[in-house]
Amino acid sequence: MSMERFIERKLRKVFRDFQQEADSVGGLCACKDLTYEGGNRPDYKSALVQQYYMLRYFPAYLAEYYLMYKHMLQERFLGESLKVISIGSGCGIDCWGLYFAICDSGGDPKRVNYTGIDIVKWKYQEILHIDNSYFINKDITEWTKLDENDYNVIVFPKSIGEFSDKDFNIVCDIFVNTDFSEKRICGLCSLMDIGKEGDAEWQGQGPQDGPQGHLGAEGFSRLYPNHIGKVIHRHCNHCNHCSLPFIPISLRKYCSNSSSSTTT
Ligand SMILES: C[S@@+](CC[C@H](N)C(=O)[O-])C[C@H]1O[C@@H](n2cnc3c(N)ncnc32)[C@H](O)[C@@H]1O
Repeated sequence: MSMERFIERKLRKVFRDFQQEADSVGGLCACKDLTYEGGNRPDYKSALVQQYYMLRYFPAYLAEYYLMYKHMLQERFLGESLKVISIGSGCGIDCWGLYFAICDSGGDPKRVNYTGIDIVKWKYQEILHIDNSYFINKDITEWTKLDENDYNVIVFPKSIGEFSDKDFNIVCDIFVNTDFSEKRICGLCSLMDIGKEGDAEWQGQGPQDGPQGHLGAEGFSRLYPNHIGKVIHRHCNHCNHCSLPFIPISLRKYCSNSSSSTTT
């Protein structure tokens, strides 16, 4: 399945669940919590927040992780086998990016072993065809060292900003206490832009400025269903308690530079 088809399929499923969940909890107001402004940490345990997160960010983050891993593979810094630990993995969007990057590079997903750890058990976890994938539902700061010592890829997919200084120091100690067996280890950190929410430039269309071979802004606007935003706005107009900003992150921010390991 292509990445585009995968996005379409996943968005359709999440949006259907989102509408059902909104009906059962009586509206979308809980989604207001999905903001990083003022140091807020969203309540990812809420199904509605998870679904809203997926609708807003998942296609763009998937494209970013795809590029991040593709870049890593092109560097040929590591050997054939990849053993990844994704810290704050959520439902594993970076695992999906890795899968598509491996496939597009002519590689074999069997080369990959992926472990995602997250304090919250996310819906929509899916391992695609990376059969050696595991999700651990745990607060990583409860560890003193990593659960295995042969990881050679350590990833923070939009998660590093979630750690307080104290917790981040604990995570650093976890690395120090791990007796890594691999000579080469690649660290990947994809940062989140926690600027003003309205900064995302979604106009329903975008220039064809994406590098070839992946979604690109034009591809994004083509495949992102416009009705999602419209339905959400309609919901909010009826509710009148709050007006929820619905701006799926535009890939335009991501596509102007094909090197994405530290994009926002
Ligand atoms: C912004 S979300 C990113 C989720 C996912 N990686 C993605 O790409 O969409 C940050 C994630 O970090 C997780 N997280 C925060 N603190 C954590 C901790 N101490 N241990 C494990 N996961 C943690 C949160 O539960 C959340 O799922």
